[in-house]
Amino acid sequence: MKGNMNIAIDGPAGAGKSTVAKKVAKALSYLYIDTGAMYRALTYAALKKGIDLNNGRALLELLEAVSIKLEDGENDTKVYVNDEEVTASIRTDQVTKHVSLVASHREVREKMVEQQQRLASQGGAVLDGRDIGTFVLPNAELKVFLTASVEERAKRRYEENRSKGFSSDLEQLKVDIVKRDELDSNRAFAPLRKAEDAVEIDTTSLSIDEVSEAIITLAKERA
Ligand code: DC
Repeated sequence: MKGNMNIAIDGPAGAGKSTVAKKVAKALSYLYIDTGAMYRALTYAALKKGIDLNNGRALLELLEAVSIKLEDGENDTKVYVNDEEVTASIRTDQVTKHVSLVASHREVREKMVEQQQRLASQGGAVLDGRDIGTFVLPNAELKVFLTASVEERAKRRYEENRSKGFSSDLEQLKVDIVKRDELDSNRAFAPLRKAEDAVEIDTTSLSIDEVSEAIITLAKERA
């Protein structure tokens, strides 16, 4: 599909946003922008440098000093901090545990949002995150809010980890997901929230293809 609309996909951790966003982008020949990966990349760089994650100013300075690049590949998005490929390193538990704190700082978010808006400025992009429909692209032509039960989301993370060769504890994954949702939903600045004009899809009992097809149909209707 040609055209220059932007599609915003938001929702809590593990609702299937990135898998679905990637599929939708591929089907429409759109650019996929994984905004969570950008916050993860900064978290990885900050942990590596030993920066105090409570210090928003120091994190902003780091963000201004490094370049975070997303490279849309055939099957995955490669992520770089400067020239270091961090695609796998940003998915570790260590980064996942700390990313909400890093993403809670207003100065960090403002800078990230600027970069995300620039990436989407030509249209023809699918962005997934927490605040895309409410804050990054309030005028996106299509906004989707994906949800799923905590049990289902933990199960998906478990399977995802297993397929990558990590073992994990399902109960612990549930605890971590609930905690991350709480932090992301209750932060003061641009929290996780469904935009009023977003279409909500509960993916608990839907397949990836069913969810992707629903979004592609909505996109075609609105093109
Ligand atoms: O989608 P993800 O799990 O990779 O996102 C990692 C974290 O980044 C998430 O817990 C909250 C933060 N995030 C955010 O605050 N705003 C976004 N647009 C995307 C992610």
